[in-house]
Amino acid sequence: MVYNFDKNIDRTNTSSVKYDLRKFIFKKPDVLPMWVADMDFETPDFIREAIIKRAAHPVYGYTFRPESYYQAIINWFQKRFNWRVEKDWILFSPGVVPALNFAVLALTNPGDEIIVQPPVYFPFFTAVKEHNRQLVYNQLLIKNGKYSINFDQLEEQAHTARMLILCNPHNPVGRAWSKDELSRLADISLKNNLLVISDEIHADLVLPGNQHHVFAEINPALDSNIITMHAASKTFNLAGLASSSVIIKDETLREQFNTYVSRLHVDMGNLFGFVATQAAFENGEDWLSQVLNYISDNIAYVSDFLADQLPKVNFIKPEATYMIWLDFSAFGMSDEELKSFLINKAKIGLNSGIDFGPGGEGFMRINVACPRSLLRQGLESMRDAFTQLFHENNV
Ligand SMILES: Cc1ncc(COP(=O)(O)O)c(C=O)c1O
Repeated sequence: MVYNFDKNIDRTNTSSVKYDLRKFIFKKPDVLPMWVADMDFETPDFIREAIIKRAAHPVYGYTFRPESYYQAIINWFQKRFNWRVEKDWILFSPGVVPALNFAVLALTNPGDEIIVQPPVYFPFFTAVKEHNRQLVYNQLLIKNGKYSINFDQLEEQAHTARMLILCNPHNPVGRAWSKDELSRLADISLKNNLLVISDEIHADLVLPGNQHHVFAEINPALDSNIITMHAASKTFNLAGLASSSVIIKDETLREQFNTYVSRLHVDMGNLFGFVATQAAFENGEDWLSQVLNYISDNIAYVSDFLADQLPKVNFIKPEATYMIWLDFSAFGMSDEELKSFLINKAKIGLNSGIDFGPGGEGFMRINVACPRSLLRQGLESMRDAFTQLFHENNV
């Protein structure tokens, strides 16, 4: 089956964060929303059908996750990443962000140092700060348009830190960390008994020509210091179903995490979340390969458009995710001016780079998981606004 990602779908009045909260977030209800990380594509038919089939049964009482749900996850990991996982290692969380917070609370103490690598997905910061742990920035380095980890600094920080929250692949800079990079990280973790929470929610969104490496598979000696978080939500556009997995091989660590979480009684989840997750992992390969090709073409489209029509915007080529990290610093605007200009003049809603912490100054994140016509509209609107600005400044 050939899927049609060019189809425009009206998402307004569906309680969509991306569309229906524009009036609050951007103070402009008609801004073209290219921000929050969900897709404007249809959730695939095989997932919708599985949900509709279950919804047709008239009772939505208490449910548990069946064997077939776990088997679908296990098979997916084996096939996609050659990662052998056992059922007992897989725990449920109503989202990866909640799971990050659970891990911080269950495995660290107030005052502990927790390392994050900005610019990075901003809920990492709150997961540390809101629980009175100390945020330690191991800011990424950028050279010739490519980001890397500052290992020299990390070696120092790891002496006293208790935990590192890794974004693998990295949102927003789009790196799919290499085996060498992850091996170096694993060595630091081992040497310092540093617990690593590897957020791998974007693992399936590694773009053609790149590869995802599961951090837990890098070094078997790491087992007692590694927790992996994963979900079908980003990959198959299911974020509204709030379902994710936490994978912990080491029994002691799993027990520690689970004791905390089970006391909160949040592991029931949502019946439709597990139906959708199972359907995604049982049937998703073909759809995923098609959507990744479409996203990859969208990324190439942005790259060509900017090179041709807005060369002052520096494009950081992503290896993974459907977000592009764009550098607007050549325009010399403050972050506030840039944000206001893009909302009010270009009429597009992007994520401000500064929200992703140090290193985000002058940047914006654009979401390209949308039909190409919508992407073109956003880019043209941005080009027209900058053309107008140049014109006004020259007059
Ligand atoms: C790195 C990362 N982790 C977690 C999430 C969200 O996870 P969830 O919706 O399962 O809480 C996102 C969403 O953009 C993300 O980019």
